[in-house]
Amino acid sequence: MTKRRSQHWYGKLDKDGFIHRSWMKNQGYPDHAFDGRPVIGICNTWSELTPCNSGLRDLAEMVKRGVWEAGGFPVEFPVMSLGETQMKPTAMLFRNLLAMDVEESIRAYGIDGVVLLGGCDKTTPGQLMGAASVDLPSIVVSSGPMLNGKWKGKDIGSGTDVWKFSEAVRAGEMTLQDFMAAESGMSRSKGVCMTMGTASTMASLVEVMGMALPTNAALPAVDARRQALAHLTGKRIVEMVDEDLKPSDILTKEAFENAILANAAVGGSTNAVVHLLALAGRVGVDLSLDDFELGSEIPLLVNCMPSGKYLMEDFCYAGGMPVVLNRLGDKLRSSKTVLGGDISVYADGAECYNDDVIKTVDDPVKPAAGLRVLKGNLAPNGAIVKPSAATDRLLEHEAEAFVFENIEDLKANIDRDDLPVTPDTILVLKGCGPKGYPGMPEVGNMPIPAKLVRQGIKDMIRVSDARMSGTAFGTVILHVSPEAQAGGPLALVKTGDRIRVSASKGELELLVDDAELETRRAAWEPDAEHYMRGYAKLYVDHVLQADQGADLDFLVGKDTRLVTRESH
Ligand code: FES
Repeated sequence: MTKRRSQHWYGKLDKDGFIHRSWMKNQGYPDHAFDGRPVIGICNTWSELTPCNSGLRDLAEMVKRGVWEAGGFPVEFPVMSLGETQMKPTAMLFRNLLAMDVEESIRAYGIDGVVLLGGCDKTTPGQLMGAASVDLPSIVVSSGPMLNGKWKGKDIGSGTDVWKFSEAVRAGEMTLQDFMAAESGMSRSKGVCMTMGTASTMASLVEVMGMALPTNAALPAVDARRQALAHLTGKRIVEMVDEDLKPSDILTKEAFENAILANAAVGGSTNAVVHLLALAGRVGVDLSLDDFELGSEIPLLVNCMPSGKYLMEDFCYAGGMPVVLNRLGDKLRSSKTVLGGDISVYADGAECYNDDVIKTVDDPVKPAAGLRVLKGNLAPNGAIVKPSAATDRLLEHEAEAFVFENIEDLKANIDRDDLPVTPDTILVLKGCGPKGYPGMPEVGNMPIPAKLVRQGIKDMIRVSDARMSGTAFGTVILHVSPEAQAGGPLALVKTGDRIRVSASKGELELLVDDAELETRRAAWEPDAEHYMRGYAKLYVDHVLQADQGADLDFLVGKDTRLVTRESH
């Protein structure tokens, strides 16, 4: 057998081996912990500032039980945690920093395999990206969703109902007192948002890509079965090290295609697009925005908010992802999982216990649910829209634009009584892309102008270079690429220009002639940069556009070489 990676640290009979072992022994480990058994890193994003991941400390202990049981040596280490609801200007700015932290932590230490403990939106892709760039055997355990929100006798969903309540307060239909009272009912336990937001989307896609054990996506954070799953994951990673089963064996083009199909079937977040593109870049899979059209004819099966009415707890009790995979049937590509077999094994024998929560292909929530990619002279490199969360009538539309030059412009003017907009107006927001904000925040689902909210208007076309929360809804055209700050045509749009949207044809056109656009381009200048130093400066200088996953250009790809130089 070839020497384990960890033995280059702990198996040496010299000064370096003494130092590596001796300092670890200060934690009470006996000699046999260093006898050549697999050393398993438990990469933990637990943090009190990331409430969605606050259960991960407990889960790490369960993973350790499984690792010890299987004859491994577990070592837990912290990495940067990204609390979606707590960070400014946006957690997305730091996804790539987390990925760097994960990658370099794995590379620098004497470990043979990794269990990734994440959950909140950016933690899952950040950890996967980092792990993929080192390519040691890796497996995910997710936080799991919170219990269903409950308020005034009704189920309420993270995010989705916040947007609804906020609009109801603006329309004068909900008191501020009720609005504040709903906060406590919404978040009743540890765990991630219990809608099919970005966290549960990414956990679902991790499962369908075969990077976690079956049922990982939907088991509630506080369900004892999630602890058992963590224990079983600890056992399995030890076997994966012995089998040398790595992310590059699992994250194939077919696995990404399965993720795109499943994202449509679960009504998943638009954020999955940038995360899958970035992850594909790490493992060298040729994935483009156009590949997401693969999901466009897939029916929406999972009836969860924001595209449906139930919540993740209901999804779990109905059977979870194994049922979705079962119902996708032979649409799924053959691809390998962390169990070593084919993904179809995850679907074998899956029974559905509530056909209203997980609908059938013949009776779906919506017949075609996948994201649509839009291109045209307003988005030469593409933009996306999520039809399952949109208003059908607005998916084919032509109207005048009203332009907000940046987020401050929007906040200062959106509620003006004299704002010259109608329900048909197309709202345009600039300066919210990867470089512009920076970090591509979730502000694409900009609020409906107050004067229209009071008329009962609930949806309008909104176009921007931003993202939107996976829990949000509306006819929202996102990720316009290139972004305004990078000089994309979005930068040239003026109030009064006509824009044409056709989701069926995949078009997003600015109806202004080329000569006029050239005149505007000659007069255009990017905004002054807000961040002049540190990580944010590095990010702005190196971030790729949304259609390439918004990774940093120098992080694309991987380096699997063993570090041979010592520090002493
Ligand atoms: Fe963390 Fe939704 S804010 S999962």
